[in-house]
Parts: sequence; structure tokens; C-alpha cells
Amino acid sequence: MKAPHIIVTAGPTVEPIDPVRFLSNHSSGRQGYALAAALLARGARVTLVSGPVNIEPPAGADLIKVQTALEMRGAVMAALPADGFIAVAAVADWRPATRHASKIKTDKKGFASLQLVENPDILKDVSGLAEGRPRLAVGFAAETAPDTDTLEALARAKLDRKGCDLIIANDVSGDAMGGAENAVLIVSRGETQALARAPKDVIAAQLADSLMALLNTHSQ
Ligand code: CTP
Ligand code: CA
Repeated sequence: MKAPHIIVTAGPTVEPIDPVRFLSNHSSGRQGYALAAALLARGARVTLVSGPVNIEPPAGADLIKVQTALEMRGAVMAALPADGFIAVAAVADWRPATRHASKIKTDKKGFASLQLVENPDILKDVSGLAEGRPRLAVGFAAETAPDTDTLEALARAKLDRKGCDLIIANDVSGDAMGGAENAVLIVSRGETQALARAPKDVIAAQLADSLMALLNTHSQ
């Protein structure tokens, strides 16, 4: 059987305001890189589209480094066709409407009038492709939920909104975004599966097993 091609996005995006400032978030890239490594270990061909992170890329991945959400979207679309698309990146939802060529000076009140525009939703766009949609489109949802039922309900709403096949949800009320451990729910249109709290590479291995099994079941 031909190795499945899987595109994984990882890390944050960085949206420049001026030459010295940007909008971004605390994503470490660890979950996405660990998942890419686990998929490679299971025989997949992986294109890893990554925002700026401070970790080594897994050997054997086709690494495409990007800064902004627009660049990430462009790199993902250019990497298609793929059998799977797994959106682990913490894409900045908004970007400054203009990138100032020179540093905004504090006395000019430039920040009081900083205009933001919405970034494209890469997962929604890929999931909605009329032609060439990967047969498995997966999103991650980092939520602050008081309990598992709320987490599942939030994930299910996101599944519908994005049009993807799975949402892998985790509660970031603790330190999941920068931390070394994670506990997740795998929410599909059918059942929900819970993975107990474990180091991110253990979670990545369990997720990779599930995703490779799904890709093999749904192979043409
Ligand atoms: N995602 C994406 N492009 C965006 C925003 C999100 O591809 N512009 C992907 C993420 O990589 C993730 C999933 O969509 O796999 C869910 O991201 P999340 O930020 O939780 O979703 P949002 O729709 O932005 O909802 P929220 O209001 O909770 O931030
Ligand atoms: Ca978001």
C-alpha cells in the first residue's frame, strides 16, 4: 500500500504589527511536532507546515516554515493533494489590517487605533474543498471547560462549524499549551473517545494509531 500523505500544521502564527512587534500566542508546537513524528514512524509521508517554534523538526518530515496565517494557508494549499490534513497549529484568529513599515511610536497613539482583520480559517477551508478534499480532516480544540461534558459539547459545535471529520479536544485550563502533558477527547460525528492525561509524545502515539487506522479503513 502507498504511504499516505498527511499535512500537519503546528506551532503559533505570528502576525506582524510593525518591524518590532507582533500578535501571537503561547503554542510551543510540541503536540504538532510529536504527532508528525509519530505519523512518520507509522510510515506516513508528512508535510509539516510550522509557525516559529524552538524545537527540532522530526527527521524525514517535509518542513515548511511560515510566519503568518496567510502564509500557512498558502503552504497547506500548495502541499495538497493529501490523504489527511491535521490542523494542530494555534492560528492567530486576527491580524493587524496593515503592517506598519516603521516602528509605531508610543507618543503617536498608534496602538489606540490598531485595526484587526480576521484571518482565514485554514481547517474550515480545507474541510470544505469541493475538489481534492483530504479524506480525513482533523482539528484540535484548546478550550477552557469546567468539565468533560462541556468540553465535548464545545468540540462537537466546532466539528460542525469547521466541517472536519474529527476534533481532538483538550482542556487548557491548566498548562496544556506550554506544558509537557495533555489529556484529550477524540470527538467524531459518532462516538467520543477519551485519552487519559499523559506526556504529549504518548498522546501523539495514541492519536497517530487512531488516525492511521482511520486512513487505512477509508482508503480508496
Ligand atoms: N484553525 C485554522 N485556522 C484558523 C483558526 C483555527 O486552521 N484561522 C484550526 C486550528 O488549527 C484547530 C482548529 O481550527 O485545529 C480549532 O481552532 P480554534 O482556535 O479552537 O477554533 P476557532 O474556530 O478559532 O474557535 P475559538 O473561538 O475557540 O478560538
Ligand atoms: Ca482560535
